[in-house]
This record gives sequence, C-alpha cells and structure tokens, in this order.
Amino acid sequence: MPNIFDILREEHVVMRALVQRAEENTDKDSRKLLRDDLKLLLLPHAKGEESALYPEMEKTERLRLDALEAVDEHQLIDRALETLEANLEGDDDEWKAAAQVLRETVFHHLAEEEEKTFPEAEKAFDAARKEELAEVYRHAYNARAQELK
Ligand SMILES: [Fe+2]
Ligand SMILES: [Fe+2]
Repeated sequence: MPNIFDILREEHVVMRALVQRAEENTDKDSRKLLRDDLKLLLLPHAKGEESALYPEMEKTERLRLDALEAVDEHQLIDRALETLEANLEGDDDEWKAAAQVLRETVFHHLAEEEEKTFPEAEKAFDAARKEELAEVYRHAYNARAQELK
C-alpha cells in the first residue's frame, strides 16, 4: 500500500518537469496541450492535498499554520495558471513571463512542502494513517480530474 507522502513526492517530480517545459516551450501549437497537462496535474493534486492532508494537519496545533499557508499558496498557483491561460495567444515574451511566474510559484511551494510541511506531518501520522490518507487523496484527485475532462 502506498503512503500519501510517497505519492505526493512522485507527483512533484512530474510537476517540476512540466512547468519547466511550459517555460522553455513558447511554440504556439503546444501551448494549449501544455496548459491542459498542467491543469490536469496541478489542480487534482492540490484538491487531493486539500482534502486528505491539510485538514488532518489543521487538527494539530503545531501543523495548522503550515496547512493554512499551503492552501494560500495553492491559490497563488491557481492565479498563475489563469494568467498563463490568458496568454495562450500572447507573443513569446508574454507567454514566457507567465510561465516563469508559474514555475517560480510552483517551485517555491513544492520546496516548502518537501522541506518543511511533509517532514513535519510525516512525524505526526502513523503508517496505517498514511495509507488511509493515500486512499482519501486518490479519491479526491480522481474526482477533480474527472471534472476537468
Ligand atoms: Fe504538493
Ligand atoms: Fe500543495
């Protein structure tokens, strides 16, 4: 049985590659595909964390602040995605600028989760709980992905 933190870390690897690709690739024909791939990965991942992980953290006084900060950062990522989308037909610099903001916002958030939020939360849950949370995560992730298709 996978534990939730293994799943999240694996998805972060794919996310980093994808936001980097959006920044490097300004070709107009690939923008829509990139946008679709980004939404299909970033939004379900965020929804899953907000359903499975952060509410559990909020119950623990020591972890509450990190969870609230993470939700706020998800909103910044949503906003950066919207800006990228608004620049689908923009010139190369306009697209690149929006992709750069998205990459910076995502990289900052992932680093914070991996270096601070996850290690702290991992200490708070036992192995069985981490597996249960993986189930909750998968369910929320799939439901959100379904909405986007
Ligand atoms: Fe994450
Ligand atoms: Fe997150």
